[in-house]
Amino acid sequence: MVQTTCQNRTTPVRRSARRRSYMNLQERLERMADEMETDDEDKDFSPPKEDVEDETPTSDDAVEETEQKGRKTRGSKNVATPRKRPRQVSSTLTPSKLYTPRKKVGNRTPSSRIPNTPTLGSGRRWKLSATPLPERLQERSTPRSEFEKARERLHVSVVPDALPCRETEFAEIYGHVESAINEGTGCCVYISGVPGTGKTATVHRVMRALSEAAEQEEISPFQFVEINGMKLTEPSQSYSLLLEALTGQKFSAAHAGDLLEKRFNTVSPDRQSVVVLMDELDLLVTKNQTVMYNFFNWPNLAHSRLIVVAVANTMDLPERMLTNRVSSRLGLTRINFQPYTHQQLIEIVQSRLERVRCFEKDAIVLCARKVGAISGDARRALDICRRGVEILEATLRNAEAAGKPLDQKMVTMAVIDRAVKEMFASPAVQSVQRASTHQRLFLVAIVRNVRRGGTAEVEYGQVADEHIRLCKLGNIQNPNPSDLIAVCAQLATCRLLLVEFSRAGDRRQRIRLNVNEEDVITAVRNGGEEWLRRLVEA
Ligand SMILES: Nc1ncnc2c1ncn2[C@@H]1O[C@H](COP(=O)(O)OP(=O)(O)O)[C@@H](O)[C@H]1O
Ligand SMILES: [Mg+2]
Repeated sequence: MVQTTCQNRTTPVRRSARRRSYMNLQERLERMADEMETDDEDKDFSPPKEDVEDETPTSDDAVEETEQKGRKTRGSKNVATPRKRPRQVSSTLTPSKLYTPRKKVGNRTPSSRIPNTPTLGSGRRWKLSATPLPERLQERSTPRSEFEKARERLHVSVVPDALPCRETEFAEIYGHVESAINEGTGCCVYISGVPGTGKTATVHRVMRALSEAAEQEEISPFQFVEINGMKLTEPSQSYSLLLEALTGQKFSAAHAGDLLEKRFNTVSPDRQSVVVLMDELDLLVTKNQTVMYNFFNWPNLAHSRLIVVAVANTMDLPERMLTNRVSSRLGLTRINFQPYTHQQLIEIVQSRLERVRCFEKDAIVLCARKVGAISGDARRALDICRRGVEILEATLRNAEAAGKPLDQKMVTMAVIDRAVKEMFASPAVQSVQRASTHQRLFLVAIVRNVRRGGTAEVEYGQVADEHIRLCKLGNIQNPNPSDLIAVCAQLATCRLLLVEFSRAGDRRQRIRLNVNEEDVITAVRNGGEEWLRRLVEA
């Protein structure tokens, strides 16, 4: 099994507190909306995310009873008093409130009413919908300088209402989920793409738009549950989380799995559709295949009304984990998020900086070109621009302290160049630079395999073959097989690689980079060996 460094984050969950915080949040949102009206410049930006609080009673009753109780509690306007002392639940859920539909909604053609992703400048603001997504309000200090505004807007945790360059993906996901909700069927949408391509942000936007539509009674009511592989200690914990969100009751993973199986196989005319976002799916399935199989299979059951939106970094995860025959039978709808091109990165950064005048156009272009050439990761582009602002602010402060104030109001190419260099001279880049030639070559062989296969995880055998090929190209001596195993082990020891320890030396041993692909590329580019540099640029 591939070793990961991911840690589970635990979140306290209390229902009365959730209601209180929900109401506070609403009040704060209203206050914020008022502020926004006076400060029109910021109207398109929604605040960063935060975990939601909930309070959950505990019990170990049978599923029918729990479903009834769950319905009663969720359906009533008043919040039920917990019967027992609230207990902390690990992992974040986003259990939604249920609606009482006042009119029946008929089927409709999804394409006829898919909302456009609101565009910047449209003045549209997200209100707290009936299926609230996690949000955090950021207190705003006024008055703010242009630099301060730019830093705030460029922060990756601030997701704008409109996601430029993801309109097609938004419409596609919206269409599938909406029609499944309205038709009362199940479906499974499989979304893949390298990190930082906006997968999670787009799905959150879709859910927000759908919950607004449900609030307006334009579509049938539904429940939204978010499960993140990164936050689970065990893949099967996702059963307990899903059942808890549906019934308000806690069960052991094994028991919850059985109860869910029973639930989804049982006819229940009153059942609402449930949309489950399975984020960071990669981390769930490397440990246990049954979990992924079940989450892909349950939507196919006639009465489940389960809609699974699975988000992963790799395109062929279902095939690798479930064999081709099973995965094709599951009939997944697939949507792949391509890395952003440099033009798209320019658009993303510019849209965030609309009405904030502190960036020269060339500076943004330079940043977008650097990131576009390496990874197409929007987070990296935003971080570089943000760092650019900080560098300029520090320069101005120092000049003023030295009694020679500068009159520079714009982030220039030179500033971005400094930010890029600083960013790419990260500890990870430095450790790759310090590695031996064969170690760096091994990392390059992984990068080439990852690019070719589109999967983050690769097999040792493929990498070893590539390594030998690259030695020939570079005209350097091949390492013998045991030396190459040692190279891989050394890289794992210094945490540049994650490897499946149980199969060390086996050609099928799975390995993956524990640093960004771009860190490897940058380190090799910065290094002296011209032939190695050509290999990563090829
Ligand atoms: N199209 C976009 N427009 C604006 N910001 C974006 C866009 N795509 C990604 N981002 C930014 O990058 C961050 C990371 O996106 P995320 O959806 O978490 O990526 P992924 O899930 O693919 O790893 C988001 O929080 C957002 O700030
Ligand atoms: Mg994500």
